[in-house]
Amino acid sequence: MDIAEVLKLADELIFAKTGEHIDYLQKAILEGTFQGRTYPQIADATHSSEGHTRDIGSELWQILSEGFGKEITKRNFRSILEKAKFDNFSSAIGRVGRDYVAINNVNICQEKARSPTPPQNPQQTPTQPHIDLGDAPEIFTFFDRTHQLSTLENWITQQRTRLIALLGISGIGKTTLSLGLINQIKTGFDYIIYRSLRFSPTLDATLTNLLQIFPQPTETPQNTDTKISQLLNHLRNYRCLIVLDDVQMLFCSGQPPGEYKSDCEDYQLLFKLIAEVCHQSCLMLNSSEKPREIVRLEKEYHPVRSFELGSLGIAAKEILNSQKLSDRETWETLIDIYQGNPLWLELTATLIQELFGGRVSEFLQCEMPILDEGLQSQLSQQFQRLTQPELAVVTHFANLAEPVAVSYFFNKIALSPAELVNAVRSLRSRFLLDAVEEEKITLFSLNPVLRHYVQSRYVSN
Ligand SMILES: Nc1ncnc2c1ncn2[C@@H]1O[C@H](COP(=O)(O)OP(=O)(O)O)[C@@H](O)[C@H]1O
Ligand SMILES: [Mg+2]
Repeated sequence: MDIAEVLKLADELIFAKTGEHIDYLQKAILEGTFQGRTYPQIADATHSSEGHTRDIGSELWQILSEGFGKEITKRNFRSILEKAKFDNFSSAIGRVGRDYVAINNVNICQEKARSPTPPQNPQQTPTQPHIDLGDAPEIFTFFDRTHQLSTLENWITQQRTRLIALLGISGIGKTTLSLGLINQIKTGFDYIIYRSLRFSPTLDATLTNLLQIFPQPTETPQNTDTKISQLLNHLRNYRCLIVLDDVQMLFCSGQPPGEYKSDCEDYQLLFKLIAEVCHQSCLMLNSSEKPREIVRLEKEYHPVRSFELGSLGIAAKEILNSQKLSDRETWETLIDIYQGNPLWLELTATLIQELFGGRVSEFLQCEMPILDEGLQSQLSQQFQRLTQPELAVVTHFANLAEPVAVSYFFNKIALSPAELVNAVRSLRSRFLLDAVEEEKITLFSLNPVLRHYVQSRYVSN
């Protein structure tokens, strides 16, 4: 058996016994043991304490021993697996599955208390999740995003990722995708919550808002620290999916991306704790600027991932179809020009409908791209957030038809190399610059819509 088969079987055994999938620490213990690592080494790599790692390990060996009907320990694990056949293990899963009612629930993650009312009879159908979507927009149409949904679902339900950043330029479909995801995976959660941070609420206000969704404690805590620990308790006791949308509104305008407004700085602590503390929930952050701590936490071995959302691709034809445009043979050209951005395509489709009777080929005869007023004002909100060095770099890019390396700008622009490099990096963190690798060089460019916007707004004036 190889490690992939082992993990799959371990996941099924754990699920049969506890009703929960393998978590990242259990996975790390199995992989580490397979590779001959010691507990201190595994604890080190997972930023867990050695004692906690050993506790989880011994529960794990017990589950595997029961499943396989043979004592499995850290010492003999590898040799048993090397001799074992997949079929022997598979039959073990059936055994555990049948014994499920008789076996007590095991707390896989010791700090993770289960739901305060664990199912007395696991055969009864799961209760409906408590869903509170607040002021989320109602989604009437949802096209494709099949791969994106399955990746995110896998991260949340299989890999038990605790913190996910869903990133991408405004209008690309982050809000829509996260609501589609909620719809797809709502069973299996106790609480599903969506909140937009578009008005930059303080952390305290957000916590107060979130806490009132859960069963009320006898006393409402007064200070933010206590509210954070109460929320973490809920995330441990219940399986929750919380989506915080418009996270970029916590960041300053006119400053490098990811720089928190002074009264929003303590969100960093919440995000860090959600990544580091053991619990059974997931927080998803939607943002058009990459939060800096995500970059840091992702590099360490925390269950933290980021997902950059791109073009809707040919599924965007459905948007054109729903707006009753004609000349289907030209739709892919239109989608390419507008980067498969659903919002840009919706706005342009309305324009085509109003001025060109829905005929895309007639519209495409104009000099492309044409940015209708709605699209311009949408872009203006994003460009207002840039720093002066970013604006200087972006206006240079607007004059270039071909992608260029960063070094191209040295001595062409009144910025030091460090300022230049940081400006390019910031523009990337705002998803405004595209990058391609060519012959071991990274080349950057502005897409045609942004180039046209910058030329008309900043270059010709
Ligand atoms: N997969 C999709 N199917 C249908 N419409 C979509 C899809 N993704 C985005 N849209 C539409 O595009 C517009 C922008 O999407 P939204 O989710 O608000 O983007 P973002 O949150 O990234 O700014 C919305 O009007 C939305 O209805
Ligand atoms: Mg949104």
